[in-house]
Amino acid sequence: MAIPYQITSLEQYHRDYKKSVEDPEGFWSNIASQFLWKKKWDNVLSWNFKEPNVKWFAGGKLNITENCLDRHIANLGDSPAIIWEPNDPNEATRTLTYSDLLFKVKQFSNVLKNNGVKKGDRVCIYMGMVPELAIAVLACARLGAIHSVVFGGFSAQSISDRLQDAQARFVITCDGAFRGNKEIPLKSVIDDALERCPFVERVIVLTRTKTPVSMIRNRDVWWEDEIRKVEQQGNPDFPAEEMDAEDMLFILYTSGSTGKPKGVVHTCAGYMVYTNYTFVNVFQYKPGNIHFCTADIGWITGHSYIVYGPLSAGATSLMFEGIPTWPDAGRFWDIVDKYKVNILYTAPTAIRSLMSYGTEPVLSRDLSSLKVLGTVGEPINEEAWHWYDEFVGKKKCPVVDTWWQTETAGIMISNLAGVTPSKPSFATLPLPGVQPALIDEKGKEIQGNGVSGNLCLKFPWPGMLRTTYGDHERCRLNYFATYDDLYFTGDGCLRDENGYYRITGRVDDVLNVSGHRIGTAEVENAINMHSGVVESAVVGYPHDIKGQGIYAYVICGQEPEDVELMRKDISSTVARIIGAIAKPDKIQFVRGLPKTRSGKIMRRILRKIAEGEMKNIGDTTTLLDPAVVEDIKNGKV
Ligand code: PRX
Repeated sequence: MAIPYQITSLEQYHRDYKKSVEDPEGFWSNIASQFLWKKKWDNVLSWNFKEPNVKWFAGGKLNITENCLDRHIANLGDSPAIIWEPNDPNEATRTLTYSDLLFKVKQFSNVLKNNGVKKGDRVCIYMGMVPELAIAVLACARLGAIHSVVFGGFSAQSISDRLQDAQARFVITCDGAFRGNKEIPLKSVIDDALERCPFVERVIVLTRTKTPVSMIRNRDVWWEDEIRKVEQQGNPDFPAEEMDAEDMLFILYTSGSTGKPKGVVHTCAGYMVYTNYTFVNVFQYKPGNIHFCTADIGWITGHSYIVYGPLSAGATSLMFEGIPTWPDAGRFWDIVDKYKVNILYTAPTAIRSLMSYGTEPVLSRDLSSLKVLGTVGEPINEEAWHWYDEFVGKKKCPVVDTWWQTETAGIMISNLAGVTPSKPSFATLPLPGVQPALIDEKGKEIQGNGVSGNLCLKFPWPGMLRTTYGDHERCRLNYFATYDDLYFTGDGCLRDENGYYRITGRVDDVLNVSGHRIGTAEVENAINMHSGVVESAVVGYPHDIKGQGIYAYVICGQEPEDVELMRKDISSTVARIIGAIAKPDKIQFVRGLPKTRSGKIMRRILRKIAEGEMKNIGDTTTLLDPAVVEDIKNGKV
């Protein structure tokens, strides 16, 4: 059956876009009415960006899991909801049909209930990419608990910060996770994190790697034992909790320009409508398509385009536990071939990494099932775009370059596969409902084409963040205070002569390393935890594979005796405080940092040097000690 709100022609895109701007309420209520509501909304939209206060579908009652699962059972009960490919290609795969998944979600909702989890409670989920991760997420949503998934690469310290911020009394984890040839001891990381979180009452542990773990009496229980108890209760049904449209669905922590990650909050109805709408339109999903999003559910891309978007559309979502280069660089292509994947959604960093292995791995596999290719997370350079288009898509698959953020919940600017034109390295046009504006240094909107500025959004869309958990003022200051009545994205952007948008990268102190968002202040704080470090400054620099690399300038109390060892010590400090993803790629020991007389570090200068730009450093006369610049130039690593 055709999806009534799927855009199928360029003309329709323009028509729908126009309608979404002229009558946003009519536009979105038409789409929302296609979902399953326990009670219809009273009011489509109320908003102001001052506080901010945004409400979509207020008064409506629903449960997102009924829309992702129950409503599909009649027609799609036996079709696969999740296909799981393990890290090790020799291990058996798993397929969960919609009926299986609903059954397991109900079962685990009962486990949560038996363990004291109630509506509104925060549940932290720290697991590898196994189907139970999706089950845990959906079970929270069914019960009305607020999930906060933490990516498996974060350290104990990062987890305890997040647990404390969310005041989460429940944790769901695995004994360990497989990633390539590595085994990550997740439960042991949780044990370390919980030393600082005595308020955590219950840890539910799934067996995956059979890594030895310490199970603490009265706190830790095994997933499998708890399931057995529910079976002994006769697998009682678990009716989906009635949620208000604006009840919190989840918190997802993400980095900003301060040292402390913020808990981005998304609510039930708007998130559901927006992820579904963008999924079916951007990827031009057709019933029966196999959708393979290579992200981890620990990031927003996994939330929206492995779990909620595809499942709300009744699609088959392929979930992969491993990494693209293990056991070899043909892993993605083997998976595409094996399951006849139709839609492949990955990150530029993965494409660049695979490109470095040449074309043999990709040319030796049958990729003829592919219909649509997508990228997300960072700007894609033209070379990678063309490689993806030519060798993966054989020039027959539209490539969608999707720009969005944790805060936006779903895709905001992107071509619609095969429906609107593509342009290499351009995200192209805004989706219906998305009203971008480019803003100049004076805070004024720049009109016309062939211009660039800071990317803002003028009007709310259903998926936008509502607050940052526990600190609404922070949300206001971060996103709504830079410019009046605008949401500021933190990205720089240009609009070409045809009105196509190209995201040029962050204009704030946020780095995008392999598509992972990391704040420079966060990394500096972590480096400064090392007892030998006096001060540090972190900037990004262009990196062939990662997009951006982390360059750290570090002042030590005493000149390090063994420079290499000190570098390693600092890196492991960062890994311990944040996680391995934030380890600096380059560390330069310096005697001083370029500071203004008021003590502000001139990052512009450090960025130039890190980029290898030694000549056009710009004005250094305002510096307290211009001589440090020469020193730093001479010591560049
Ligand atoms: O700088 C933009 C970049 O990633 C940032 C958002 O990161 P995060 O919240 O972790 O979400 C990533 C997955 C949606 C943005 O502010 N970004 C994301 N997609 C693109 C992009 N930059 C350029 N092109 C994109 N397609």
